[in-house]
Amino acid sequence: MALLPIETNADTAPRRKAVELARRTLALIEAKTTDQAATVMEVPVDGYLDPDRFQRESAILFRERPVFAGFSGELTEPGQYKTIDLPGCPVVLVRQRDGSLRGFVNACRHRGARLVDGAGSVAGDTFSCPSHTWCYGLDGALSSMRAARTFGHIDPDSTRLRPVGVAEGWGVIFIRAASADHDLRELDVGALLGEELSEQFEHWGFGDLEFFGSRGFESAANWKLVLDTQLEPFLSTVHPSSLANMNYSDHATFDAHGAHALMGVARKSIGALAGMAEEEWDPLEHVQFTYVLFPNTVLTVAASHVEYVQVLPGREPARTAAVHAYFTPRGGRGSSDERHTERYNRSLRTLVDESARLAENIQHNLTARAVDRILVGRNEPAVQHQYRMYDEALQHYSGGLT
Ligand code: FES
Repeated sequence: MALLPIETNADTAPRRKAVELARRTLALIEAKTTDQAATVMEVPVDGYLDPDRFQRESAILFRERPVFAGFSGELTEPGQYKTIDLPGCPVVLVRQRDGSLRGFVNACRHRGARLVDGAGSVAGDTFSCPSHTWCYGLDGALSSMRAARTFGHIDPDSTRLRPVGVAEGWGVIFIRAASADHDLRELDVGALLGEELSEQFEHWGFGDLEFFGSRGFESAANWKLVLDTQLEPFLSTVHPSSLANMNYSDHATFDAHGAHALMGVARKSIGALAGMAEEEWDPLEHVQFTYVLFPNTVLTVAASHVEYVQVLPGREPARTAAVHAYFTPRGGRGSSDERHTERYNRSLRTLVDESARLAENIQHNLTARAVDRILVGRNEPAVQHQYRMYDEALQHYSGGLT
């Protein structure tokens, strides 16, 4: 069952980490501080405006490198699919009859029409192109085409849907759009997460999560600004009447895990732990795990639910398309559907009405070049880490671009 290690107080990586996060957060609150970076960072505004930088980010961060693509619970039945629009590469993931997961470029090999939108199930295990009804099996092979007798000869290999690298493990899915066939086997969730996060993900029970709901939203701001709003500890100013009512503002732990990161965000109830022996703690009731899966996903594990926000570049530097998805532990862990609906809607409100609008406000002034750089404080270590990792990935990439 999802979140079991925390519930049973078993000595597992998530529980040990939850106790550590709770202990560290209590100390930060007591000392009236937060985890800090070494120095204040300056980020030039060109990073949010320059079309060449935007194209490199889209290609290197989102097509050449693996990105988080969701939870297994979104695709449980054969023929069930979901689409993800990586910049410059629409992707469709589909569950196979043997339980495995495959990914393809969501483009017909005839004239390139988009095969499916959103999420759903394909009828008769067949993707039927809405344009001229070329049909594809779940394995991506062309199964039938209209007027085949008169179309003329074509190489069968050239009509298969183009594969996308997929890795699935512990209920988590990653994709790599630029994967050539020989790369597909090399994509491994454990290797992508690194040792310490793997130990936690292995025990969270994400594979047992039930999909509750998801929604896309857009922002007229650069994708990095939209993501930044998820990583700041300034809840009392950005989300004064929503998240700040429940969680501590300005006191968060930060740990880098390679390009990824983990923030611990304390609920206001955490003071209840202060007088208790750690063995008696149910720490997840008082501190939530906020994973930042490089380059674009914020994955939150709370006592009652798990949710993620996947931020994707839109068609130009000042456009973002994002997806929020919410999951419940099987059995609900004591929460009714009404409570989950309330939390789901609250998350959406904070994302759409608060975070995305704040990012637009900032983008507006950056576009006008009202400032020539932005500042990221020592008290925003997760934001700083992201910017360092963006630059590192872009600078060290030496391959060709798809
Ligand atoms: S574009 Fe798909 S059948 Fe023509």
